[in-house]
Amino acid sequence: MAKAGQTEPIEALLKEGRKFPPSKDFVKQAQVKSASIYKDAGGDLVRFWEKQAKRLRWMRPWKKALEWKLPYAKWFVGGKLNVSDNCLDRHVEGPHKNKAAFIWEGEPGDSRVLTYRDLWREVNRFASALSKHGVKKGDAVTIYMPMIPELPIAMLACARIGAPHSVVFGGFSPESLSDRINDCKSRIVITSDGGYRRGGTVPLKKNTDGALKACSFVSTVIVYRRTGQEIAWQDGRDVWWHDFIKTGDAYIKPEPMDAEDMLYLLYTSGSTGKPKGIIHTTGGYLTGITATHRMIFDLREDDVYWCTADIGWVTGHSYIVYGPLANGATSVMYEGTPDYPDKDRFWRIVEKYGVTILYTAPTAIRTFVRWGEQFPNRCDLSSLRLLGTVGEPINPEAWVWYWQVIGRRKCPIVDTWWQTETGQILITPLPGITVAKPGSATRPFPGVSADVVNDKGESVDAGYLVLKKPWPAMLRGIYGDPERFVKQYWSQVPGVYFTGDGAKRDEDGYFWLLGRIDDVMNISGHRVSTMEVESALVDHPAVAEAAVIGRTHDIKGQAIAAFVTIKSSVTATDPLKDEIKAHVAKKIGALARPDDVIYAAELPKTRSGKIMRRLLRDVAEGRALGDTTTLADPAVVADLKQKYEDAE
Ligand code: WTA
Repeated sequence: MAKAGQTEPIEALLKEGRKFPPSKDFVKQAQVKSASIYKDAGGDLVRFWEKQAKRLRWMRPWKKALEWKLPYAKWFVGGKLNVSDNCLDRHVEGPHKNKAAFIWEGEPGDSRVLTYRDLWREVNRFASALSKHGVKKGDAVTIYMPMIPELPIAMLACARIGAPHSVVFGGFSPESLSDRINDCKSRIVITSDGGYRRGGTVPLKKNTDGALKACSFVSTVIVYRRTGQEIAWQDGRDVWWHDFIKTGDAYIKPEPMDAEDMLYLLYTSGSTGKPKGIIHTTGGYLTGITATHRMIFDLREDDVYWCTADIGWVTGHSYIVYGPLANGATSVMYEGTPDYPDKDRFWRIVEKYGVTILYTAPTAIRTFVRWGEQFPNRCDLSSLRLLGTVGEPINPEAWVWYWQVIGRRKCPIVDTWWQTETGQILITPLPGITVAKPGSATRPFPGVSADVVNDKGESVDAGYLVLKKPWPAMLRGIYGDPERFVKQYWSQVPGVYFTGDGAKRDEDGYFWLLGRIDDVMNISGHRVSTMEVESALVDHPAVAEAAVIGRTHDIKGQAIAAFVTIKSSVTATDPLKDEIKAHVAKKIGALARPDDVIYAAELPKTRSGKIMRRLLRDVAEGRALGDTTTLADPAVVADLKQKYEDAE
């Protein structure tokens, strides 16, 4: 616990250029201690990844480790394996049989522990029931569930029979859910009556019913009873999980999957209005996430690892479900919010289960900073030995607070950069080696080739972050849209993967992520596209035109500011603003609710009709106006700026 007088104040720790090496004690026990790993892997990255792949259980060995025909990579060609076999059977056959796989805590305070054997049993029954129900290899299954053990059980069951899953975050609206079901045409949806969140419940079955009005091809909805809340029921389509699972056998053989068979689809926002289904496959993906999870989190046999993400995002897929289970780790899984019943809930969980590794998001850390030290300080956090962050750049103040107050100055922090598309962490410290600098994700992981380049692809100190060589967990495409895949990721700078992030590199070769440079916002670590919000806005009957930008926000990183022109027949009022905000939340989900709605008589456009977002950003952040010479009508922005200031 940090006490006044005993430790340096945070301002002193933030002195420019201050570096944080891992402690001697940490280094002594670390998994990876020698920086030679970078050189070895860099010398022959295919050999490095092959070595990692050999730690998995293969049903048939691969013939060729990498086939690279830009932009398509195939890893471990000819190899066969099954992800659920690697995550479960392999452990159940050995000493991990009765080790806890998940220690789960529900928001109301209920708790369940599932050992590897327990999980194996549940997954087998459910997989067998799905198979008997006619779900076959290659059939997509949509999963829309709260953070309960049945969510990973459903995912692993799909993986066992080779049915790719598409998990949709429980915070998404019925319409977002139906878009995703329609895109992958899954006939099966797995959900629950509801889930607990901040003392209330989320109506997942009701949302599903709403979504399915636009998906008549869905034949089966499997419903887990979590809250007991009242739900509507459609006979012949809806079936209770507890009835469905009874139809399964105790064991079903894991389907031998080709290394390049699809494991899952996960939808994410891009720079157009339509979310894209990112395709992840089997062998390379499991190799990439297993190796990174073990080395970056310095995983030991007795660790209690807790990643606080929701499984609905890629972080949960890779680092709650597949990575930790393949590594035989014990994970904590929590259903609810950090402030229920009080703002110390996370720290109570750390204390209760003796969490040793905590992986969370900068937006959560900034929230904890605002709530104050009294909440962590009233709990025993001495079990923690390593901390991690993901999802957005972390500001040095939040980093140092995390290090001092949560890590009590002895836990290294791994600031991990990656994306839904990359599948695995790519830029990160290795905690036993790297000297951290607050705010920098430091260096590419061994076997990863990243660079900062300009439009021509030349290395520069500040520019676009790109990846120059394939890595095993990389996306294999956008579902049903190969053209968009090429255009979005492989065309902006020739020959390399374009991340959409800006970055700079310092004199030590450390990478500093600067945020998105495309039309994607990062709201509390969640990706939201400006176009998606704009189309939700113009869907409101009062709105004629809309332009959306992400403005800097202390807690969320970015907040949504929506500039709207309303139809001439409508009167601009404050209640209408609230109605417009609510409309976006209803269309997409609460995560996309704009913080500000600003009425604009006109939107600033270039003479060719392009909305000038840069100027809107200046307005929303109260900056002096940038260059307005290319504007069709410069008075538009001055007028907007005035309105924005008046509203504040
Ligand atoms: C951002 C989340 C800075 C980045 C795993 C990226 C980060 C986007 C970091 C991907 C980090 C993620 N530092 N920025 N450590 N981690 N980002 O697909 O802009 O939800 O492109 O994947 O989040 O978000 P996604």
